[in-house]
Amino acid sequence: MVILNFGSQFAHLLARRVRDLGVKAEILRFDASVAEVAKLKPAGIILSGGPASVLEKGSPRPDSAIFDLGIPILGVCYGHQVMAQILGGRVAKGKTREFGKETLRVKARSGLFKGLTASQTVWFSHGDQVAKPPPGFSPTASTHSCRNAAFANAKRRLFGIQFHPEVTHTRHGIKMLKNFLFSICKAKRDWKIADVAKEIVAEIKKEVGKAHVVVGISGGVDSLVAATLIYRAIGNRLHAVFVDTGLLRKDEVTQVAASLRKNGFRNLHVIDARRRFVGRLAGVTDPEQKRKIIGHTFVEVFERALKNELKRHPVKYLAQGTIYPDRVESAATSKTAAKIKSHHNLTLPEKLGFKILEPLKDLYKDEVRRVGAALGLPHDLLWRHPFPGPGLGIRIVGEVTSERLKILREADAVYLDELRKAGEYEKIWQAFAALLPVKTVGVMGDGRTYEYVIALRAVDSVDGMSADWHRMPQELLQRISSTIIGQVRGVNRVLYDITQKPPATIEYE
Ligand code: XMP
Repeated sequence: MVILNFGSQFAHLLARRVRDLGVKAEILRFDASVAEVAKLKPAGIILSGGPASVLEKGSPRPDSAIFDLGIPILGVCYGHQVMAQILGGRVAKGKTREFGKETLRVKARSGLFKGLTASQTVWFSHGDQVAKPPPGFSPTASTHSCRNAAFANAKRRLFGIQFHPEVTHTRHGIKMLKNFLFSICKAKRDWKIADVAKEIVAEIKKEVGKAHVVVGISGGVDSLVAATLIYRAIGNRLHAVFVDTGLLRKDEVTQVAASLRKNGFRNLHVIDARRRFVGRLAGVTDPEQKRKIIGHTFVEVFERALKNELKRHPVKYLAQGTIYPDRVESAATSKTAAKIKSHHNLTLPEKLGFKILEPLKDLYKDEVRRVGAALGLPHDLLWRHPFPGPGLGIRIVGEVTSERLKILREADAVYLDELRKAGEYEKIWQAFAALLPVKTVGVMGDGRTYEYVIALRAVDSVDGMSADWHRMPQELLQRISSTIIGQVRGVNRVLYDITQKPPATIEYE
């Protein structure tokens, strides 16, 4: 499937739904040329939704020649309206703007609606509607205020729907997509994760040939899966560099190293830079300053490691764990290079003439995890919560010291361990402990204590842009608090953070 993206927040969701049904989906910009689309030999094309109105001047339009390719096309929301407009129909502002759930009355229970009942719950999110379908098209469904909520030209295999089949509020949206993919487009179900892993391995072999590759390991899912795939392809011509900043979670280095070595991988270089990081951070309390120091120190250590690898082996490639949304987002929003956060901004790879290898560039996060599972990587490593580049450095408010790092690492490990044991971890988008640089009074046994405060954060979110605090069972909170204070020396008070983002951020600095 080719999905032409008109700027909808749901274009990725459409692509994922299609892939989940076993069909490869590729997102292209809305103005991809007909030649570009045809080159991919798609079984069908989907025109996504988008925030614009076809009634506005300069609104995005696809190359109209796509309608003459003879390939089935499904227009969704904005895609439905732009199709109507280009093929000679009429689009108007709706009298009442339909947003949210609507009841759809299906007239033609064939094509997209084959096998569905006459009344369907669907989800709308656009103000315009198709006032008159194009010549040769007939309406196939309506709602109380939208006569042409769906239309079709069955002969040309062109379909338009005003609502979103990809969101779960459209109860039988998946069935409609299935009808489009398999009955109408006759698409093959050949997008299987195990095959995808094999294909990626074969591609790496072909691309890299006899050359050597360096990969940076971060402790996150993407770099681990990328390294494992590359290792399968080229064995010990892969060299992995893992910078131990001292700002990582407890046992992170050992766990990741163990899972890489388990398959026989030998060339893992763990660079112990813990003292360098703590040294540079001594006395620094400003959050931005801390981030800068951590970023610069990382680049410095990593670049030196790259140079060392280069001295020892004929390294031609630097592998990165870039995934599909990173790539599509940067291409969709601008034609210039992707904006990279300063601490990830390595300058050396270019100077040393490395080529970039991105084995996960066509995969979504959940697909990366499934590839990882197919490669036999441990479940707990694959399902870890997001972790920021500066690590625990921005979870200790104020100055970072070895003592504070040790306390935070232990408290965080107890917290996450209890969440896992209670089956709560995978219900949460991101959970972690933070250390507040204040001491408060407590009493333990017969003695007075004067120790640090640990704040627990757990948030529900979709993408980290906004977040709500996770409603945690109270007994679990109680257990976590007692265990932390019982086991972690240096803490005598535990707080649970109940702030949403916005106004707070997820991290503390
Ligand atoms: P905030 O704190 O901005 O965090 O609400 C949103 C999400 O981004 C992660 N985060 C980072 N990730 N480098 C990263 O790779 C960073 O500097 C960074 N800062 C925040 C954070 O963990 C959360 O998931």
